[in-house]
This record gives sequence, structure tokens and C-alpha cells, in this order.
Amino acid sequence: MSAPAFDAVGAAFAPDAVGRSVRLRGWVLRSRSSGGILFLVLRDRTGTVQVTGRRDALGDATFDAVEHTQAEGALEVEGTVAEDKRAPGGREVRARAIRVVDAGQPFPIFAEQTEEFLLDKRHLAIRSQEHVATFRVKAELLRACREFLEREEVLETTPPILSGNAAEGGAEAFQIDYFGRPGYLSQTAQLYLEALLFPHERVYALTPSFRAEKSRTPRHLTEYLHLEVELAWCDLAGLESFVERMIADVCRAVAARRPHELELLGRAPQELAALAPPFPRMRYAEAIDRLAAQGFPVRWGSDLGTAEERALTLESKVPLFVTHFPRELKAFYMLRSADDPRTVEATDLLAPEGYGEMVGASCRETDLAHLTERIQALGLPMAEYEWYLDLRRHGSVPHAGFGLGIERLLRWMLRREHIRDTTPFPRTPARHTP
Ligand code: 4AD
Ligand code: MG
Repeated sequence: MSAPAFDAVGAAFAPDAVGRSVRLRGWVLRSRSSGGILFLVLRDRTGTVQVTGRRDALGDATFDAVEHTQAEGALEVEGTVAEDKRAPGGREVRARAIRVVDAGQPFPIFAEQTEEFLLDKRHLAIRSQEHVATFRVKAELLRACREFLEREEVLETTPPILSGNAAEGGAEAFQIDYFGRPGYLSQTAQLYLEALLFPHERVYALTPSFRAEKSRTPRHLTEYLHLEVELAWCDLAGLESFVERMIADVCRAVAARRPHELELLGRAPQELAALAPPFPRMRYAEAIDRLAAQGFPVRWGSDLGTAEERALTLESKVPLFVTHFPRELKAFYMLRSADDPRTVEATDLLAPEGYGEMVGASCRETDLAHLTERIQALGLPMAEYEWYLDLRRHGSVPHAGFGLGIERLLRWMLRREHIRDTTPFPRTPARHTP
């Protein structure tokens, strides 16, 4: 194998590939031998192909070495593409030469293992077809989000992850020792995005957010990927319209570009492609009435937990905006509603089929006095918000923004039971390795 160039496995399935010589390299998905013939399935980034090798063509030494190669061992193969009706995809590569790059030790992942074991071996488990498909869809989702934001002229920015103040209040922030002073891991980039909005008008960031919540639920991670957008001159209607266009657009893009992966994961691409704005809207007050009528022990002021969110969308195939929450339930920076001072101009987007909140959005309070009043009322340390208050002293304008939990969106898109299945190395209260 002297020539440097290798083909991708996918090349064996090109229309004119039959009879052509190819050089492949990849990992053994499975292998067996019978009657002096090796049957391998070789995997690379482009797919899998059956490789056959005869003892008389390869020679005894090579044949024996390949026969002893384990699942996930690595090989280079030189051979000819042939038609074979019994092979997956109707093609196989008949090997002339095979080089064992690494025969590998017995691969510890196989069917029927416990979830705990698979999480301990996550660094190897992520090679499974299901994980591969999931993270290809995730990559496509991130690309689609960036493309949508680019088209909307929203600038990508890079706010910090380390900070001396805990943006949303502190209770759920991971605290670290920052050279003897308290530091925090970011829970949200929002306050920094609000600062970046004044020079750029429309900004976003795609960064990890950290939540020190001990909640062991199927929708909480302690580290997740947060897409946050901040838009100048935007009101609640504009914000909802932006969010629903973005969600529908990225679903359509992923459905168009990753149909095979979606099907492998049990999600019909046409279902995602069919999602279209506008999504229904419901005021918090109406949500409470509906839930109370269903027997939930809720009244004005009750927070909507997992069970309540689930009940609101269980029967629905489209997301639902819940708006105008009591201000006591929400963060200090949210704009009070002009028509009802008890509520704020906030909207949470709940995923269909009971999957729960995937976007938290609001208009921001522009008035310095209202903001300081809320910070005081919530007992937050005023000094830490001084820099943020400056933003209301120098050209304060109406603006709004939102945070989208990428794994929350993906969990619903792929209908995964647990959010940990949407990230390669999930961080939960019980686990931060591997
Ligand atoms: O609703 P949240 O807490 O809103 C904010 O942090 C705002 N400051 C965002 C903004 O306006 N820039 O979080 C936003 C979203 C949630 O709707 C949810 O999708 C996701 O972040 N999220 C989580 N995802 C996974 N695990 C967790 N523990 C999450 N907590 C929030
Ligand atoms: Mg929220």
C-alpha cells in the first residue's frame, strides 16, 4: 500500500464503481470467516461496506491476522468493487490486500448492557449507529441555526464563560475559586449579549451554560449548549415570530439534510419538515385555568413544573408559546407588561407531545428605576449589577431575547426518553466522567 490516496467507503456505491479498484480504511463493524473466505463490514465516516477476502488471494499470514482482528479494529483494504445481491447495498469490495492497522482488544460494548455500564464506557459507546446518527443530526441542527441567524443578520459573538457575578441570581450557579475570589460558570450569556447588542443591534452566542441543579430529570443537564439571541427594537410579538420561524426553519433544514439518520432514529423527516409557523399562543392565566380544570392543584402564581408543561402539550403536534407570566416567577430583567403590571412580557416555548420547555424568552426591562427596584426586591447584590445598569444609562432601547437549549430541542426532535442521549458526554448531578 504505497500510494497515498484512499477512497471513502461511500465511493464503492457510486453508480460507476463496479469493477473499479478502491483503497479504503476504517474500522471493523463485524467480521466472520467461513470456508477460507473472510466477511467484514468496514465503517468510515461515509458509511459501511462489506469486504470479502479469500485466503488464496490474501495469503495465510494476512488472512490469519485479519481473522483475529476484533470488532472496532482498524484496517486498510485494497480491492475491487463488485456487485453482490446478498451484501448490504448490493455491493462488496473483494480484497487483494489488507493491512491491519490495529487488531484491537475485544470490544467491550455489545447488546443488552446496563445503562450505567454504557455511560461508564461512553467514550466507546458513542461509536454505535444510534449515537453516530444522533450527533450527525446535532451537527446539522447547529449548522442550520447558524445559517438562519446569518440570514437574519444576527452577529455571532463570544461572551465569557467565567464571570465574577452569577447572572440569574446565583442559587443554581457553579461557584469556583478564581484566584481566591468567587467566580462562577456561566448560566446564561444574556447580560453580556445585552451589552453587545448596543454596538451590533442583533447578536447571538452559542456557548455552554452550566446549572448546578440537583434535578435528576430526563430533561436537565448540568452542562448544556445554549443558543442565545438578543434583538434590538423588538417586542414580544416580534420575538415570538423570530423564535417560531427559527424553530420551523431548522427542523426543515435538518429533515432535508439528514433524512436517513432521522429514519434510523425512528423520526419521520416529513413530520419535522411539516412544522410551520405560527405556533399557538396561550397566556399563563389561561394555562392555569386549563390545568386547574384538569385537576392540577394550581392557581395564579403557581410555577409550571414538568407535569404541568407536559399536560399542556401532550396532545399537540406543534409547539406552544406560554406568555405573560406573573413577574414573581421570572427573572429581574423582564419587562413588565403595560396592560397588566402583575405580568411580564415573557414567553416560554413548550415542545410538542409533552417534552416541555425548550426556549425561554422575554422583552427586557428598559427603565433604570424599574430594574433597580426588581434587583432590590429579589435581594440580589446591587453592586454586581452596576455594569449592567450602565446599559440603561446610555441609549436604552426596547429589546428582547431568548435562550434555546439545543439538547432540549434535539430531545424532542428525536423523541429521546432522556436528554443525556442528545450529548456525547452528558454531565448530570451523578456524573461528570468520562
Ligand atoms: O429559561 P432559561 O433559564 O433562560 C435563560 O437563561 C435566559 N437568560 C436566556 C436568554 O433569554 N438569553 O434557559 C433557557 C433555555 C431553557 O428554555 C431550556 O431549553 C434550556 O435553556 N435549559 C436547559 N437545558 C438543559 N439542561 C438544563 N438544566 C437547562 N436549563 C435550561
Ligand atoms: Mg426558563
